[in-house]
Amino acid sequence: MENKKTSQLENFTIDNEQKAGLTTNQGLKVAEDEFSLKAGLRGPTLMEDFHFREKMTHFDHERIPERVVHARGTGAHGIFQLYESLSQYTRADFLTDTSKTTPVFTRFSTVQGSKGSSDTVRDVRGFAVKFYTDEGNFDLVGNNMPVFFIQDAIKFPDLVHALKPEPHNEIPQGASAHDTFWDFIGQNPESAHMIMWLMSDRAIPRSLRMMEGFGVHTFRLINTLGKAHFVKFHWKPVLGMHSQVWDEAQRTAGKNPDFHRQDLYEAIEKGDYPEWELGLQVIAEEDEFKFDFDILDPTKLWPEEEIPVKIVGKMTLNRNVDNFFAETEQVAFHPGHVVPGIDFSNDPLLQGRLFSYTDTQLSRLGGPNFHQIPINQPVCPFHNNQRDGMHQMTIHHGKTSYHRNGLNNNQPEPVPADQGGYEHYQEKVEGRKIRGRSESFLDFYSQAKLFYNSLAPHERRHLISAFSFELGKCKSDLVKNNAVVLLNHIDRRVAEEVANNINAELPKENLESKSTKKSPALSMVNTIYKPD
Ligand code: HEM
Repeated sequence: MENKKTSQLENFTIDNEQKAGLTTNQGLKVAEDEFSLKAGLRGPTLMEDFHFREKMTHFDHERIPERVVHARGTGAHGIFQLYESLSQYTRADFLTDTSKTTPVFTRFSTVQGSKGSSDTVRDVRGFAVKFYTDEGNFDLVGNNMPVFFIQDAIKFPDLVHALKPEPHNEIPQGASAHDTFWDFIGQNPESAHMIMWLMSDRAIPRSLRMMEGFGVHTFRLINTLGKAHFVKFHWKPVLGMHSQVWDEAQRTAGKNPDFHRQDLYEAIEKGDYPEWELGLQVIAEEDEFKFDFDILDPTKLWPEEEIPVKIVGKMTLNRNVDNFFAETEQVAFHPGHVVPGIDFSNDPLLQGRLFSYTDTQLSRLGGPNFHQIPINQPVCPFHNNQRDGMHQMTIHHGKTSYHRNGLNNNQPEPVPADQGGYEHYQEKVEGRKIRGRSESFLDFYSQAKLFYNSLAPHERRHLISAFSFELGKCKSDLVKNNAVVLLNHIDRRVAEEVANNINAELPKENLESKSTKKSPALSMVNTIYKPD
């Protein structure tokens, strides 16, 4: 079956297997490539040696900045096949036409470490999928955990500064066992739920092929009648979900830092293609306020018993990249890449992400034309009036490049919504300009507790050991004590055991039962929006 993305990429591929004479970038045939041009065999190298200069200059610029987060990753090509039409929810053609096979590119990553760190560290895993649909690229830029550390995008730089290796000594690499990270967690109780996931076995997957994926945020699906539903996206691995144990993960990191990328690469080479089913949780717009959590809060999941996951299709990764840099390193995902029939919610974390990705890619990929890099190009035609800029690869003909001109009838024109043009959902929005958070976001602990209660006894032991190991590496007593204060809101026994293991103070009062929705830890909350 033809894969439109694979055929598109072939147009850009240079086959190094074919014999070809060596030339400079100007096409000049090179007669000698081992010795620089010198004034005498033992003399200095000459400035006029353009071949040496070109070869060395190109080499000097081979590296680009690594991603500011999710720097270490690996990717593969594949396809997405829909099981049944979702036309009652969305007009997106890749989610309504079951005869279509949509090409995808998926990149898995760790968040904290640099590009050369180990695969099997305790960390969140990125799970980013680019669907090359006939209506444009749709990116589902998710993680392997369903919730996040913070509720508002403005805190993301703080989270990442705390999480990344400490700036004075660049330690630790690929790990969260350090003061600044745990200081942030202790000072930001909204991270309670996420930290339980991070200290669980979910953070040390056995294989990338055996991980779940989550879009995390609430998005919207809109059908042809203009009716909207809230949606959360899920990936369920066909191989099931499996983790390593901590000791195993540490040994693996030492013996083979490439454990996950090698496993994925080799499985695909063998034809043992990894598969994930796409699942949706859907809530009708009129049910937005029916739950005891706010469906816009990214630190909350939607319990599957209440809102079941409907399985709607399957992704199969069936082709490794030809060139890691050209494809995996240069791919640019963005949660704002949507297609008609998919729109955003007002989740304040998602709203900020919509700004951040293009912004970072402008410097990571060198200017405004990185959508022309082969891996990023849509498989459908794209034209507009954007021109010039660094690394422009297109030669635009003609003298007009503006909308509404009388000189060229072929200038790209907006496409009406009923012919496939993207139209934003007309949500009614009212409010005062204000910095703060809704009271409905203040229950930090109920779902953290629910998560702990859902674990099997051996998983609980793993989680307590993880807290003890990671916090045990912290130097500051304040940081350790604050982490125990946080645990004391979630589960008293966990707080007790961890405090004991790391020599920290256990608060006198057990706050577990007082930490529900009705009595949030108000003292730790900054600004609260009180509706009139
Ligand atoms: C990568 C920002 C939250 C998933 C990135 C990058 C930035 C960023 C700047 C690097 C992109 C690049 O260089 O191409 C943010 C901000 C967030 C946020 C500002 C919150 C305000 C999240 C959340 C998720 C997520 C909640 C999961 C749902 C990812 C993934 C990647 C990534 C998977 C790697 C994409 C790839 O493989 O290239 N993020 N992020 N991020 N982010 Fe986020």
